[in-house]
Amino acid sequence: MTPTRRARPGVEALWPLCLAIVRHRRGMGPPPAPDALQPFTRHPTHGLMLDEDAWDEEALELFALLKPVLDRPPEGPAWVIGQLGQSLDGCIATRGGDSNFVNGPQVLLHLHRLRALCDAVIVGAGTAAIDNPQLTTRQVTGEHPVRVLIDPSLRLAPTLRVLSDRQAPTLLVCDAAREDEAARRVGAGQVLGVPGLMSNADGTPDLRALLSALQQRGLRVLFVEGGGITVSRFIAQGCMDRMHLSVAPVLIGSGRPGLSLPGGAAMRDCPRPVSRVFRMGADVLWDVDFRAASSPP
Ligand SMILES: NC(=O)c1ccc[n+]([C@@H]2O[C@H](COP(=O)([O-])OP(=O)(O)OC[C@H]3O[C@@H](n4cnc5c(N)ncnc54)[C@H](OP(=O)(O)O)[C@@H]3O)[C@@H](O)[C@H]2O)c1
Repeated sequence: MTPTRRARPGVEALWPLCLAIVRHRRGMGPPPAPDALQPFTRHPTHGLMLDEDAWDEEALELFALLKPVLDRPPEGPAWVIGQLGQSLDGCIATRGGDSNFVNGPQVLLHLHRLRALCDAVIVGAGTAAIDNPQLTTRQVTGEHPVRVLIDPSLRLAPTLRVLSDRQAPTLLVCDAAREDEAARRVGAGQVLGVPGLMSNADGTPDLRALLSALQQRGLRVLFVEGGGITVSRFIAQGCMDRMHLSVAPVLIGSGRPGLSLPGGAAMRDCPRPVSRVFRMGADVLWDVDFRAASSPP
């Protein structure tokens, strides 16, 4: 008789533990019970580790993907993870702005997981205006993040869902000089006026000033969900720690671009950040680490 192997726990068992770790980091609850965390160990340099013999493959894969977020300590500087879902030809939406849906359901589920594990989700004004998103965690269990809209020119309509649905706190970000004007549009409780936000000579928002203002509000682990202009600005200003770039087998052609960065003169000057790949159904997710020493060409 062949011995029966006990089924190992999977993603359904792992996800509540991920939420417990994050709630503890945010000071929202007691530390997870030692029994519950028995499969984890904390390595002094490698951080949280999962007992590879105790979990099924899907759970191990998810843990590997989420570990950089789960490893965030309760204190320290702001930490930023970005995402873009793009076509084979590098577009994140059609020219008219339709991005529903570039990627398949697994990537969408992953975005909701990242929202649940981060303190705030950040989008540019273009995304807020065109998609009218909710930016909630409705596909998974877990708290909604604070929703942050970067809108220095105050063009967003107060009727947008994030500004009117009261499902989660929302902060409309502008320069401190325009805080009163913004408060009249969307209510003072939904405005974050950032001193020096528009002090960059090139007219782009100073994202370090934004990170510092968010940190003062206790928002440290941050998820920049789009669009291409906003994610590119975070990278160009050295404000992005990690990025999940999901490539879908679709051709959009003449659509809205994903990453758009200042170019290197020769290939040897182009950075090659350390990265890993994960299969997400038909899509491929590139997990890019901007802080690790880049590989030689
Ligand atoms: N596939 C994905 O992963 C993904 C994720 C998010 C969004 N998207 C898509 O990306 C597109 C938006 O991305 P994006 O790179 O163009 O911009 P974005 O990064 O979302 O927002 C920044 C840009 O929006 C402009 N903007 C400000 N107010 C606006 C308004 N009321 N209406 C339209 N634009 C406004 C800003 O102009 P100023 O600098 O002059 O203020 C700035 O250039 C949308 O089509 C969205 O569906 C795709």
